[in-house]
Amino acid sequence: MSMQSPITEYLADIIAATNHVDSGAVADYIPELGAADPNLVAVAMSTVNGTVYASGDAEHRFTIQSMSKPFAYALAIETHGLETVLDRIGVEPSGEAFNELSLDPETGKPRNPMINAGAITTHSLIGDDEDACVDRMLALFSRLAERPIEIDEVVAASELETGDRNLGLAYLLHASNALRQDPRTVVTGYIRQCAASVNVRDLALMAATLANGGVQPNTGERVFSRMGTRHLLSVMTSCGMYDAAGDWLTTVGIPAKSGVAGGIIGVLPGQVGVAVFSPRLDAHGNSARGVEMMKLLSDDLGLHLMEASRPARSSLRETRTTSVDGRPATVYVLQGDLVLSSIESLVRELIDNPPPTELVVFDMSRVDEVLPVARRTSAETAAKLIDEGHQIALIDPENTIPGFRDSHGRAVERWTSEHMDATDR
Ligand code: DON
Repeated sequence: MSMQSPITEYLADIIAATNHVDSGAVADYIPELGAADPNLVAVAMSTVNGTVYASGDAEHRFTIQSMSKPFAYALAIETHGLETVLDRIGVEPSGEAFNELSLDPETGKPRNPMINAGAITTHSLIGDDEDACVDRMLALFSRLAERPIEIDEVVAASELETGDRNLGLAYLLHASNALRQDPRTVVTGYIRQCAASVNVRDLALMAATLANGGVQPNTGERVFSRMGTRHLLSVMTSCGMYDAAGDWLTTVGIPAKSGVAGGIIGVLPGQVGVAVFSPRLDAHGNSARGVEMMKLLSDDLGLHLMEASRPARSSLRETRTTSVDGRPATVYVLQGDLVLSSIESLVRELIDNPPPTELVVFDMSRVDEVLPVARRTSAETAAKLIDEGHQIALIDPENTIPGFRDSHGRAVERWTSEHMDATDR
């Protein structure tokens, strides 16, 4: 079965379904960002096995901006230990804009590492001087994305010229001895960190490393400790979306981080990393269309953290070949809840190793629940199999997928397990 994955098609649908969202405006406080094409749009998803699916302008590169903050924070924790980092930067949501000129009045510390005050302090912890900090960040991004990540020097230069606010913050921090280098050096390094040039595929892999407990899924390298990753994801959950954090947690419900170039990354622990991109921002500085795409992904894929958790195991329990009524058949035995991340391995198996027999049986006796998105993806997969000349039969004694038809509306045969038993042996 040579085909585009139904998961890629699903991502294309997410783009189509948000085509009408043209609210917000491209950030222009960094002049070079104002030149971005506002109509660019992309979405990517990486499983914790490192398979990346993407749609839209998925190769288009843009600057990582504030999405660099969580990774810098995790690196600071790996470098100095959690206690040292907590001594310098709090973990309380600020409920304020990302560039608010404020420190916690009681502790004198930045409230959290996701607002600029905290991120500037974090950056200064990464290395001894500006070059060391920036080099370590680029090396980290490259390990996470599995390719050499570079700085967009044009954007960096543009932000440096207009970085008075961040410089003001850095001087405030310097006054309370929070920085290891002088304010100008730290801000220059921080701005270069933010100007790392990435696409949604890179970001999905970076997010998938966090979903995978700190281990890069493809290289198998442990980049962050389990505890560091857990800590970071907690902070992203409460502080990642700034003053929209409460709205985000209730509606989308996954740890996330946005950047002013229009990207948003989201992490579903144990399952997937997702990344969306669209340059127009809402009043909170988060991509307007990106937020809508994330809402759809979360609803469709059942990603909300507070939804009863579903096992992250594969839906495919085993594959058997047998014969039914004297005809050779391939039987796929499915199990558990069918959610997108669990049927992903089944869909990939069908693409990589097409069933060798005309007759294909899906045994759903062990399936508990089928989420709508899994049903849709199954319908598309069934249509492709039928188009390739296969005959499909379902064994679905509990009727977990009532009235199932392929995506062209063709009915699929339903067999009882007796039908198999009678002919199997
Ligand atoms: O410091 C700044 O203003 C930018 N380099 C990053 C801000 C940012 O991405 C805020 N997030 N939405």
